[in-house]
Amino acid sequence: EDMKDVIHGIKGLTELENALESKLNLKKVLVVPGNSDESELVLKDMGRTAAKYLKKLIKANNIIGITGGTTMAEVAEEMPKGKADNEILVLPARGGLGKDVETQANSIAANLAKRLGGNYRLLHVPDNIEQEAIDALLKVSEVKEFVDIIKKIDILVYGIGRADVMAERRELPNETIKKLIEKGAVSEAFGHYFDTSGNRVWESMTVGLSLVDFKQVKNVIGVAGGTKKAEAIISISSIREDMALVTDEGAARKILKLV
Ligand code: BG6
Repeated sequence: EDMKDVIHGIKGLTELENALESKLNLKKVLVVPGNSDESELVLKDMGRTAAKYLKKLIKANNIIGITGGTTMAEVAEEMPKGKADNEILVLPARGGLGKDVETQANSIAANLAKRLGGNYRLLHVPDNIEQEAIDALLKVSEVKEFVDIIKKIDILVYGIGRADVMAERRELPNETIKKLIEKGAVSEAFGHYFDTSGNRVWESMTVGLSLVDFKQVKNVIGVAGGTKKAEAIISISSIREDMALVTDEGAARKILKLV
């Protein structure tokens, strides 16, 4: 561990962290070496760093929310096995069933809970559905209960994506993608799309964490890296200044050129 700290210092990562904390006005920034655009190992390292940070924050009876994506999959996968405090509960923060099981919030929440020796609940609601369908779903007691528990999340760990990449991945209609870009969307997190200043441009309709809920969660940890995500990270950072950010050198250096 000490050696790691020394290397961290030599590589100037501590300075990067401090610069980002002050430029983005964040509570805590952790930077891992490298660029995850270029190496999967860097993604893993970010996952491991975020997992460790998360584990230290967890207290007994905590409810932990997590989103989907390749980054969150690594956070769960890199969580060291071993019981955290008793009676923790892990939930996917929002509905959304992609094609890829490994990167779905449900699977990730279950994996994280198992590694922490905690409980989990799953949410089986698709993404981008009609308002009428949502209203009907909210009448199902199991779904209603889930949404109420989401409002009690103590710690939220979430991925940050580029608006264009996430819109494509979610297979939104071309018209919608065009509108999103026209309105200046640069980032996506928990199904919401935001412009550079953190204004919400669009929301994919499903059940789960709302923007209002997000602003009220006590501890939020955003995890995202890679030079390509720099703008997206800046955008999300402007929504909650008291968030913690785990990122990589690639994103960090690019962000500092932009802000
Ligand atoms: C999604 C989350 O699953 O992952 C999004 O729901 C996030 O909110 C995205 O933006 C990031 O994905 P990745 O694969 O780049 O970590």
